[in-house]
Amino acid sequence: MTPDEPAPGHARPPAGGVATSVEDGRAEYPVRSEEDLLEARHAVRAVCLTVGFGLVDQTRVVTAASELVRNAYIHGGGGTLTIERLARPSAKGVRLTVADAGPGIANVDVALTDGYSTGAGLGHGLGGARRLMHEFWIDTRPGGGTTVCATRWTSG
Ligand SMILES: Nc1ncnc2c1ncn2[C@@H]1O[C@H](COP(=O)(O)OP(=O)(O)OP(=O)(O)O)[C@@H](O)[C@H]1O
Ligand SMILES: [Mg+2]
Repeated sequence: MTPDEPAPGHARPPAGGVATSVEDGRAEYPVRSEEDLLEARHAVRAVCLTVGFGLVDQTRVVTAASELVRNAYIHGGGGTLTIERLARPSAKGVRLTVADAGPGIANVDVALTDGYSTGAGLGHGLGGARRLMHEFWIDTRPGGGTTVCATRWTSG
């Protein structure tokens, strides 16, 4: 872990120390139906290509996005995905923000544990998404919805 990566499951955005800018092309997608989930995956893949990720990194980011939007759809009652292209002096990145107004997550540490699910899933989505990304934070409160923000950087 590098100094500007947050601790796993960090509840706040990373403080950072590296100048990061958000490039043009911020886009928001609804997460309200199965079709939306597919469209969100395609949109993330397209942005990953423009950022210059190789196939393995593209797949990492698309897989993380897929898990997060599916959680917003299934557990959060639907929400939105925002995709941003980031730039800092030595790298480019993609930031995914998935927000819903659902019931929230009672215990984030427990929810991140592999195998924990309150639904019919395997309980690997949230923890898996965190492992696939460089920065990951969750803002949630009971009854107040959930926002997950996850970033991956190019290695160059
Ligand atoms: N957006 C959300 N709103 C409310 N609860 C959530 C949300 N995302 C995750 N959770 C809670 O965290 C648990 C773990 O999520 P995780 O994605 O790891 O597993 P899952 O969705 O149950 O199964 P799967 O392995 O299919 O993803 C969920 O079962 C749910 O209780
Ligand atoms: Mg899940």
